[in-house]
Amino acid sequence: MAIERTFSIIKPDATKRNLTGAVNAVIEAAGLQIVAQKRIRMSLPEARKFYAVHKERPFFGELVDFMVSAPVVVQVLEGENAVAKYREIMGATNPAQAAEGTIRKLYAVSVGENSVHGSDSVENAKIEIAQFFSENEILPA
Ligand code: PPS
Repeated sequence: MAIERTFSIIKPDATKRNLTGAVNAVIEAAGLQIVAQKRIRMSLPEARKFYAVHKERPFFGELVDFMVSAPVVVQVLEGENAVAKYREIMGATNPAQAAEGTIRKLYAVSVGENSVHGSDSVENAKIEIAQFFSENEILPA
């Protein structure tokens, strides 16, 4: 299996409830290594750029407003099959449909306030990582 990198965001609903460590514990227990991490306040232009693929969807305004409403933790995760593995441990977008033990089942509030983001492909992970990290900030063990 390939060693991959994926991009993660711990979203405002989770940072506000002091759940950064709890989310990181699930990530690390799954065998993914947090090779870069920073707590930032996303700007509106940054959030609009990040979610541009969803700009025609009815919830776009709500989504970007939420993402700038409080600090987020942006991360690079590395490990075998990291993109699919992180999507699996995140759980379904809607926490009501998320499997037991997943981050969203454990911690998400709603389909909008769903605690975490994870890239949906290796290609998109590269683009998303590059929006928030330079290569010298990514430090595998
Ligand atoms: S996915 O993961 O792309 O298949 O999920 P999708 O359902 O297409 O959702 C894309 C992102 O939009 C967020 N979302 C919403 N935000 C606010 N309100 C509503 N109703 C809503 N529905 C979906 C969802 O959390 C996804 O965010 P990210 O950060 O990509 O996980």
